[in-house]
Amino acid sequence: MNALRQMHLNLFVQPFGHHEAAWRHPDTDVNGLLDFSFFRRLAHKAEAAKLDSLFFADRLSTSRDAVRYGASGGYEPLTLLTALAVVTKRIGLIGTVSTSFNEPFNLARRFASLDHLSGGRAGWNIITSGTDAEARNFNLEHIPEHAARYERAREFVDAAIKLWDSWEDGALVRDKGKGIYADSDKVHECNHRGPHFAIKGPLNVSRSPQGRPLLVQAGSSENGKEFAAEFAEAIFTAQQTFEEARSFYADLKRRAAARGRRPEHILILPGLCPIIGRTEEEARQKEEELAELLNPEYSLIMLSQRVGFDLTGCKLDEPLPPLPVGEVRGHRSRTELIVELARRERLTVRQLLHRLAGGRGHRTVTGTPEHIADMMEHWFRSGAADGFNIMPQLTAGGLDDFLELVVPELKRRGLFRTEYSGTTLREHYGLPQPENVFAAGRADRQRSSV
Ligand SMILES: Cc1cc2nc3c(=O)[nH]c(=O)nc-3n(C[C@H](O)[C@H](O)[C@H](O)COP(=O)(O)O)c2cc1C
Repeated sequence: MNALRQMHLNLFVQPFGHHEAAWRHPDTDVNGLLDFSFFRRLAHKAEAAKLDSLFFADRLSTSRDAVRYGASGGYEPLTLLTALAVVTKRIGLIGTVSTSFNEPFNLARRFASLDHLSGGRAGWNIITSGTDAEARNFNLEHIPEHAARYERAREFVDAAIKLWDSWEDGALVRDKGKGIYADSDKVHECNHRGPHFAIKGPLNVSRSPQGRPLLVQAGSSENGKEFAAEFAEAIFTAQQTFEEARSFYADLKRRAAARGRRPEHILILPGLCPIIGRTEEEARQKEEELAELLNPEYSLIMLSQRVGFDLTGCKLDEPLPPLPVGEVRGHRSRTELIVELARRERLTVRQLLHRLAGGRGHRTVTGTPEHIADMMEHWFRSGAADGFNIMPQLTAGGLDDFLELVVPELKRRGLFRTEYSGTTLREHYGLPQPENVFAAGRADRQRSSV
């Protein structure tokens, strides 16, 4: 790696913060969830700190229990990102869309539009969804089996890439004199045919500034890692310990290299939930303040949804009962992480709920700005991360603490940019523009799994 390598910072936006009880904190403005000016302020702060990108997760369901105790019912991510595109200038805009409950044509069109509107700042967090509750909003009783979801995802992304590439660079001629609007030799039919999709194309949006959105992936199971190695340019992942993070990092870079990709073209960004105080003591107090607002009944509902097993009858002061992890259809790698965390640290259910409340299994670090910067620098310099997915437990105050105390410390250490050097999201991440599959004559390559 060269001496100028700098880390990448993505802000994972949960409107009130990632802690389950963040909405109850006295400093939280609970009206913010559907108040656009709240999101505009947040985006402006992140952009002023020169972060690479903003990221919005998504889930295609809610429940009466979830809304009773948890803040939910906010904006659909791509709609919100589209609005944010016009009030920001440089920061990347990453939205989550599921391949299990969408069609490639609609998705390709929406992301091409966002990329145009934002001047090349769009990114897609590709997920396959993982719960029966979501399946029940799309004509199914159960979420499709894990491997089947990833197979559909592979074909889905393959088809979306053909759609984005169906317009080559330079296809738009717009010659008024000759009456030629586009060079049709540079506009291609996709003629995609596979088990899940039949798509003629071309896309009805012309080529966008980045050609296609930055492709981000956020699943860490075996299927997820293979999928990431094939397509992802950035990977969001939950890693509890340095050793696990380093082994995940090496594994993904190796898998990408085995597919003929350059390892530095796939960025690994573990989640980080910082709780920051000017002293250790102050940071601990902030952590306890949030912990006191936790409702274990709600936390158990959330945990049950996450792992796909009903744990609501569990005794809080006993160990987690054994879970058949191999049978998980939904979020497999996260379930493994949770079970391993409870086993390794011998946690009772109550203790586990507290550990998960702040970041759902992502790494939490409590301490001074220097302590947090030390941890980030260690992971970054020692082959465990190319940057981080920043997940403040409390937005009110906690986001400012990170942007005003930790980011300047990283800049002082030369670990983070002081100014944007590019304009597109791919440029922020230091990644090359992908080759157009039609221009390269690779469009009719069929994957073995399709
Ligand atoms: C940072 C991050 C963000 C994620 N965002 C979402 C999301 O918005 N919606 C979703 O259904 N799953 C989301 N996931 C879950 C993953 O898509 C995936 O289901 C999970 O990591 C388990 O992966 P696996 O099924 O490959 O084991 C996210 C995961 C991570 C690490």
